[in-house]
Amino acid sequence: MDAFYKDVERVGVVPVVVLDRVEDALPVADVLVRGGLPSAEVTFRTACAADAIREMSEKRPNLMVGAGTVLTLDQARRAVDAGARYIVTPGYNMEVVDWCLANEVPVLPAGVTPTEVTALVNKGLAVTKFFPAAQYGGLATIKALASVFVGHRFMPTGGVSTANLREYLECPAVLACGGTWMVKPDLIRSGDFDRMYQLTREAALL
Ligand code: 3PG
Repeated sequence: MDAFYKDVERVGVVPVVVLDRVEDALPVADVLVRGGLPSAEVTFRTACAADAIREMSEKRPNLMVGAGTVLTLDQARRAVDAGARYIVTPGYNMEVVDWCLANEVPVLPAGVTPTEVTALVNKGLAVTKFFPAAQYGGLATIKALASVFVGHRFMPTGGVSTANLREYLECPAVLACGGTWMVKPDLIRSGDFDRMYQLTREAALL
């Protein structure tokens, strides 16, 4: 898990990708790599998620591809079968967390309350996702949690953008941030890869 955390921290921003069509997987992967954010959390919000993960992991080995919005054990298994190197969940399902830990699959489950973070810390997790960050108090809440869960770190997503990215990343309790803003579904649908590159580059430089 430590090597995974280091990789995530090095990239700094994890693009959260929602793909309607598997054909978009490689063009999006290429923009992210070229733009300097070689990571993609492909979400199980659409039917082609596992196929898109397979396509990216087989053909773009320099991209750190993982699965997001994983709600069930079946999705976690399918994601890893397809080549996902990590699992991200919007809340926590202990069955998914336990399976990932037993199979040495890096997992970033989300917790926003002290009770949730306690449950995840007690599983041995040193980093958890903080989602939806904006609605749950953003950086102020992360700092309050960090004062109690000493040494624990967070990956805020939900409402992160170029406007607040630097502020989040400057907080020592923040490992990295996640978000859709550079790969918004409408940019993918309209094939606006230039804009996607611009937004990716801007985030990478921050
Ligand atoms: C996630 O899955 O982490 C969120 O969809 C990211 O939220 P955003 O669209 O506000 O970046």
